[in-house]
Amino acid sequence: MKIWTKEERYRVLKSTEELKELHERTVKSDYRQLYHIQSVTGLLNDPNGFVFHKGLWHLFYQWCPWGAVHGLKYWYHTVSKDLVTWKNAGVCICPDTEFDNKGAYSGSALPTEDGVWLYYTGNHRDDDWTRRPYTCLVDLQDGGKAVKLPLLFGMNEDYTEHQRDPKIIYNKEKDKYYIVLGAQTKDKRGCVIIYQSDSPTEGWSFAGKLKVPGFESFGDMWECPSIETISGYDVLIFCPQHLTLPGRGEAVHHSGYLLGHMDWDTLTFTPDNTSFHVLDFGFDSYAAECAANPDDKNKATLVAWMGLPDASYPTDEEDWSGCLTLPRELRVRDRRLIQQPLDELRAFRGKQVDIESTDILPRVCEMELIGRGGDLELRLFSKADGTGGLNVTYDDAAKEITVDRSGMAHRFNTAWGEQRTRQLSKGLFHLRIFIDRSSAEIFVNDGDAVFSSRIFPTNAEERWQLNGDASVHIWELRRAVEDDFVVF
Ligand code: FRU
Repeated sequence: MKIWTKEERYRVLKSTEELKELHERTVKSDYRQLYHIQSVTGLLNDPNGFVFHKGLWHLFYQWCPWGAVHGLKYWYHTVSKDLVTWKNAGVCICPDTEFDNKGAYSGSALPTEDGVWLYYTGNHRDDDWTRRPYTCLVDLQDGGKAVKLPLLFGMNEDYTEHQRDPKIIYNKEKDKYYIVLGAQTKDKRGCVIIYQSDSPTEGWSFAGKLKVPGFESFGDMWECPSIETISGYDVLIFCPQHLTLPGRGEAVHHSGYLLGHMDWDTLTFTPDNTSFHVLDFGFDSYAAECAANPDDKNKATLVAWMGLPDASYPTDEEDWSGCLTLPRELRVRDRRLIQQPLDELRAFRGKQVDIESTDILPRVCEMELIGRGGDLELRLFSKADGTGGLNVTYDDAAKEITVDRSGMAHRFNTAWGEQRTRQLSKGLFHLRIFIDRSSAEIFVNDGDAVFSSRIFPTNAEERWQLNGDASVHIWELRRAVEDDFVVF
C-alpha cells in the first residue's frame, strides 16, 4: 500500500489534466456505484452545503483529489432536480487563500436572492503545522461563479484549535443569524459554540457555548453540529468523537441526535430525555447533513457520508474511497427521527428478478421483504455453498435485529466490531434494502431504523438466501447518478 507524504496529500490541484488518468482508472473499478454520489477521484468525506435553490438541489462533498487519503480538502459540487439523479458540477471551493491554505473544511449553505452563500471552515496551518480555523464565506452566484467574501471570524482562543463545520441558521422570530460550530473545550470535552449577527455576511460576534444539560461530558470533540426544526421539534444533530456506545461495538465516532427544545435566549438545548439517538445503526455513517424541505416543515432531507474518520476501505488500493448515503426523507414519529428512502427512487426500478428460478443477487438492486412473524435469517452475497455473506438476522424472542458483515471475504475496520444490533419493540415486519455494488442500506419497519454499510463482494459472493417466513421481491435498479469527469 502506498505511503503518502504530506507534500503529496496537500498538493494543490492546478488543472483537470492532472486527474484524467486517475479518473479513467477509478471508473473501471467493480465497486463503482450507479445511484450514489461517490468521489470523482480520490477521497470523499462529509456532505456539505445541502440546500434547495430555484428548482435545484445543491450538494457538495469534502474532496481530496489525489487518492484515498485525507489531505488538502476542496468542496466538490453536485446538483439535482429530484434528489435522485445527480450530476457532477466540478470543484466549487478551492483552498487558495491564507485562511484555508490547508483545506476548505465542512460547512453549510444559505439560499439568497441570486445565489447561495456557502459557509465553511478555512483550515489554516502555519509552517510549523499549528492549526488555526477560520469561518469563511463564498458567494456561489446563479451563473455558477464562486466568489470568496471577506472573512467572517477567526479562532476563539478560549477553545482548542478544534472548532469547525459552521452551520448557518436564520431565526425568523429574532430576525437574527446564528452560526453553530463544533468545538472542544480546553479540558477536552466536545461542545457547540455559537456566533450571532444581524447580517449573514458581516458583524459576527461570539454569543456563547451551547448548554446541553446531561451532555457536558460526552466525547472529546463534536463535529458537524446543526440544530434543525422538524414538525415543531428541535433536533440537535452532531458527531461526538472518542467514546463508545451500547450496540456499537468498539466504534468511537458516532453520528446522532437529541430531540428537545432550543432556547436561543439562553443558548440552551434541553433534551426530551437522556438518550443520545444514533442516526444510523450500520457500520459506515458519519457527518450527516440536513436540508430543509422548501414546501413542508414536517419533513427534511438527510444525507451522510457512508464512511468514518480514521477508517480504511478495500478500494483504498485502487486510489479512491467514499460515497454518500442515499438522501432520505426525514420526519419525526414517536419522538424519534424516521428516515425513509425517497419515493422517486421507485422510478429507477428495472427488471424484477424471478426469485423462483435464480438465487443470484444483482449487484445493483432493491430488495423488499415483508415479514410474517418469527425469526429470520437473510444472507446477502453468500457463496455457492451457502456460507458467508452479509448476514441480517432477526431474533423474535429478543426483538432484536443484527447485521453482521464478518462473513464477507473483504473484511475491514474489524477492530470496531463486525456486528451491529438494534432493538425493535414492535418486531420486524418490513425491510427495504438498497444495494449498489459496494454498499447496502437496510431500512427497517418504514424508517424505524436504518443500517448503512459499505460491503465489497468478490465474484464468488453472489447469492442470497432466506430462512424464515417472509415474502421477498427484488428489482434491478438503473443508474441515477452520473460518474463523469468534471473538475474545473
Ligand atoms: C468530519 C470532519 C469535519 C471537517 C472535515 C474535514 O469528518 O473531520 O469536522 O470539517 O471532516 O474534511
